[in-house]
Amino acid sequence: MPESSETEVLVLVGSLRAGSVNRQIAELAIQEAPEGVRLRLFDRLGERPFYNEDSDNDQVAEPGRALRQVAGEADAALVVTPEYNGSIPGVLKNAIDWLSRPFGNSALKDKPLAVIGAALGRYGGVWAHDETRKSFGIAGPRVIEDVKLSVPVATLDGKHPRENAELVANLRDVIGKLAAEVGNPVAV
Ligand SMILES: Cc1cc2nc3c(=O)[nH]c(=O)nc-3n(C[C@H](O)[C@H](O)[C@H](O)COP(=O)(O)O)c2cc1C
Repeated sequence: MPESSETEVLVLVGSLRAGSVNRQIAELAIQEAPEGVRLRLFDRLGERPFYNEDSDNDQVAEPGRALRQVAGEADAALVVTPEYNGSIPGVLKNAIDWLSRPFGNSALKDKPLAVIGAALGRYGGVWAHDETRKSFGIAGPRVIEDVKLSVPVATLDGKHPRENAELVANLRDVIGKLAAEVGNPVAV
């Protein structure tokens, strides 16, 4: 567990694209975190091998070990993801599989987790967000079902997400509600 009294939130992004809108939203969330809440982006999902039960043993190599370690240090998790073909991007699903083991004792077990993100479609990736909630709900975390934010990319008008005041306010609301679930309410 972290040494500080800050609430530590692990942030996972379901896109590896350099210009990813979801990554921009994740970075904005990090900036907008209220005092007492620290968001930490795990930036190495793309380096991870596909989950293989045969190699999931005491010698788990990096970055599989690193993801579990940062997840273990976190009090909560925020997932920011696009939708790929109506579902969860493979890189994120692979991370869920890694984080689902050891079964019954995973690093995010019982920790609050919220899922948000942006996609091109008119519903902002809601299928991917619902399925990510479903899958993480089986994997161990305590999914916060009523914290939702699915952003159609068109609503950003081609600008950086920080330019959208409504999105900034919604992000603050998401972080505040997620942190409150840790039992550490914060003013937002
Ligand atoms: C392989 C692939 C599949 C996609 N499938 C969907 C989809 O099912 N629904 C949707 O709204 N957008 C879909 N998109 C468009 C993404 O929502 C869009 O590229 C988004 O900006 C990706 O997020 P990013 O900017 O964070 O990389 C898809 C994009 C790719 C590359």
